[in-house]
Amino acid sequence: MRKPFIAGNWKMHMTVREAEELVKAMKPGLEEVSGVEKAVCPPFVDIPAVAKILKGSSVKVGAQNMHWEESGAFTGEISPLMLQGLCDYVILGHSERRKYFGETDEGVNRKVKSALAHGLAPIICVGENLEQNEEGLTSQVVRGQVRADLNGLTPGQVAGLVIAYEPIWAIGTGKAATPDYAEKVIRDDIRGTIAEVFGRDAAERVRVQYGGSTKAANIESFMVMPDIDGALVGGASLKAAEFVEMIRLAAKVKGA
Ligand code: 13P
Repeated sequence: MRKPFIAGNWKMHMTVREAEELVKAMKPGLEEVSGVEKAVCPPFVDIPAVAKILKGSSVKVGAQNMHWEESGAFTGEISPLMLQGLCDYVILGHSERRKYFGETDEGVNRKVKSALAHGLAPIICVGENLEQNEEGLTSQVVRGQVRADLNGLTPGQVAGLVIAYEPIWAIGTGKAATPDYAEKVIRDDIRGTIAEVFGRDAAERVRVQYGGSTKAANIESFMVMPDIDGALVGGASLKAAEFVEMIRLAAKVKGA
């Protein structure tokens, strides 16, 4: 049984004070829901304040990125040692990092290995852009990302991962993928590739989220899909009531 998992990616939103207000507003509602794992992923500078408010609660904290090295001359970067103790999760390879900051599958793979070595659970993002989608390259792109990003991991490590399938054309556009489409890519291309490379057990145990214009009005349609274990939520995770509602609905559909 894979535990459903809804995480909020706040992206570059929320000052420390705003982050404190947001997380205080959502905490009671999130705490009421069981059977679904929940996390918020604020910007780095907000993490200590958010982690303090959520300490001892059932809501976990994630970062949105990290460097693979523990320390060094890497101006502007944050290391896994700095996140240890503050975060449970770290989002790696988000399409915005790949697009605007030149992240490659090779770099994502180094980060995944470093996160695992430091006890941080990666949420690895994959997904095709609009052009690739229109040219019928989705399978090829997603399969290639999965192979490259997980290269060198053990089946046991892969089984414990979270992968977020985020078709780039669905992110922030209000045009979510159809649940059938997301289910097919997740089942055939993500679990399919993992089964080929790491075995069926890992493919069945790895948790896979869908991300891209999810909201309270459509979360149930994704959660009913057998291979979709949750969502990586962007814009809707910045609204306390909506995010709580999404988690309630996810629990209603798939809560343990
Ligand atoms: P939206 O939910 O705003 O489309 O963002 C999705 C996303 O990129 C989450 O990582």
